[in-house]
Amino acid sequence: MIRFGFTRRARKPAPREIIAVKELLADKSIVLVGLMGCGKSAIGKRLAAALDLPFVDADDEIEKAAGKSISEIFEDHGEAEFREGERKVIARLLTNGPQILATGGGAFMDTETRARVAENGISVWLKADLPVLLRRVARRDNRPLLKNGNPAEVMEKLMRERYPTYSEASIVAESRDVPHEQIVTEIIEKLYDLSPDEK
Ligand code: S3P
Repeated sequence: MIRFGFTRRARKPAPREIIAVKELLADKSIVLVGLMGCGKSAIGKRLAAALDLPFVDADDEIEKAAGKSISEIFEDHGEAEFREGERKVIARLLTNGPQILATGGGAFMDTETRARVAENGISVWLKADLPVLLRRVARRDNRPLLKNGNPAEVMEKLMRERYPTYSEASIVAESRDVPHEQIVTEIIEKLYDLSPDEK
């Protein structure tokens, strides 16, 4: 069978939706949360472009502040110190809104960080299935939590531990194998639903 490569183009967000979402945000950040591999950076960059806002990756900022990679921070100082740095860096970044802020998978598990995000941001949980996550994390070996043990088992454990907390996010978007633009449009629609302009 011949397959013609027709791909349905994702609907673009309407200009009035973009305006309403930016008004809703004012100086808050859209904070992307979710497990490793759920697409926080890839989708975040496109969401930032769609809303014409800066994109900031908290893990990159932690690496800059520490002058080392996340793996080196875990190796040299341990996870507890990484979490402390993560909490501080995210607290600082949250004062720079409006922006799209991608956070590392464990960041939203911290009570203080969740409270700061609630005050200075709108959180978006990018929820993905295990096979999608595993396929995506297999592309790189930069994640210390996946270096020891079976990645599928580690991920399943993290799903059990973290999904109840991630579900506290303001909105949930299903991250799956569709063009990133489609997920961006869905996020903007959901944010628009939160806005007072929504009729
Ligand atoms: C972590 C996720 C990573 C990074 C660190 C710990 C986690 O970020 O912060 O390796 O605890 O889930 P990504 O979610 O961007 O991979």
